[in-house]
Amino acid sequence: MLRVEGLSHAFRNGTETTTVLQHINFHVRQGEIVALLGSSGSGKSTLLNLMAGLMKPTEGDIYISDHNIVKMNENQLSEFRRKHIGFIFQAYELIANLTVRENVELPLVFQSVSPSIRKQKALSLLEQVGIPEKAELFPSQLSGGQQQRVSIARSLITEPSVIFADEPTGNLDTKTEEEILAILKRLNSMMKTTFVIVTHEREVAAQTQHIISLRDGYLITDRDPSDAMPLAGVTTG
Ligand SMILES: Nc1ncnc2c1ncn2[C@@H]1O[C@H](COP(=O)(O)OP(=O)(O)O)[C@@H](O)[C@H]1O
Ligand SMILES: [Mg+2]
Repeated sequence: MLRVEGLSHAFRNGTETTTVLQHINFHVRQGEIVALLGSSGSGKSTLLNLMAGLMKPTEGDIYISDHNIVKMNENQLSEFRRKHIGFIFQAYELIANLTVRENVELPLVFQSVSPSIRKQKALSLLEQVGIPEKAELFPSQLSGGQQQRVSIARSLITEPSVIFADEPTGNLDTKTEEEILAILKRLNSMMKTTFVIVTHEREVAAQTQHIISLRDGYLITDRDPSDAMPLAGVTTG
């Protein structure tokens, strides 16, 4: 469902050019949880932002459900992002003067969904992430782990086909990290949403089905366990 082909990226600052990604190729199946693993500065966030359509690569193609997002113009891309892509940030990025429920509803406000349906969906997602009782509080009244749960609920409310998460547990202690990963795994198996999770921690990557490792802008390993399995038979759908 996600295919990256011949992707390279360089940043230009005045006369200086920094090449950050070099000839990256990989693909991700519908419904997978994938980890993008690498040390700081290896190019993970750049790759994630390119796949989420937040910027354009210097070279290469990115297909999401057979749509090449690199070839889209700004309008097509923002509509595609709104409908098909969710994003989870390390620092949650919630809006301080909206309640938890209003934060979760926000992506639907831009899709002219009726207030009662928005509310119902938001409350149901807050239930899924385990904090239904926080709905009418403000983000500042929540712990970091609870705020990240809100951000996860917000990313899911448009029912995107893929969610990109940049170090979603990077600001959390180990126990809260475990809880957040468990929620992501449960939502993934329930909703069949594809998740791409950036991390610099091997322990986080080890909990996913598919690990793509970057070093200095190069893809160094692509471990997809299901590639190694013989086909058991014909599947439908
Ligand atoms: N806007 C930018 N301009 C110039 N260099 C950048 C920019 N953003 C990131 N970089 C550089 O690109 C490299 C990869 O950064 P990044 O993708 O953020 O890595 P990671 O997320 O793995 O830590 C780093 O060397 C970083 O300094
Ligand atoms: Mg990063």
